[in-house]
Amino acid sequence: MMAELFQWSDEFSVGVGDIDDQHFELVGLLNQLHTAVRERRGSAAVRSTLDELVDYTRTHFAVEERMMRDSAYPDYAEHRIYHEALIDQVRALQQKLDSGEASITFELLHFLRVWLVRHICESDKRFGKWYQEHGTRADWMPAMQQAMKQRRWWQFWR
Ligand SMILES: [Fe+2]
Repeated sequence: MMAELFQWSDEFSVGVGDIDDQHFELVGLLNQLHTAVRERRGSAAVRSTLDELVDYTRTHFAVEERMMRDSAYPDYAEHRIYHEALIDQVRALQQKLDSGEASITFELLHFLRVWLVRHICESDKRFGKWYQEHGTRADWMPAMQQAMKQRRWWQFWR
């Protein structure tokens, strides 16, 4: 087996189980996309893997942001800007893929991995610390966990 793009390890834990679980899933989806590109699977297969990664990411961001609002996180606005900037970039990429102006390259996969590592290790860890002290177990969380497991994420952001 060839090396994965992104090897998960405990150093990426932000100390909040729900967020760690979702980051683990995200890393898995990113690795799947890497495999699809590396094995030169057809563009439809690659595209559907990308779309799944994007949908999961958007839902994960929505969940994280809700946890931030619930716990009155002081850096919420700043953190949200990072999320939105990435979503905007990815949306532009999807448009370029649709029009045939771009393809998914290893350079792009590398960018996504670096973005995720940086975001987790800097921004998310800062929030994780806050949430450990100020977070409360909100009543929407069990439904969210169930939905994330079943990949019914649309209801969180559409
Ligand atoms: Fe985040």
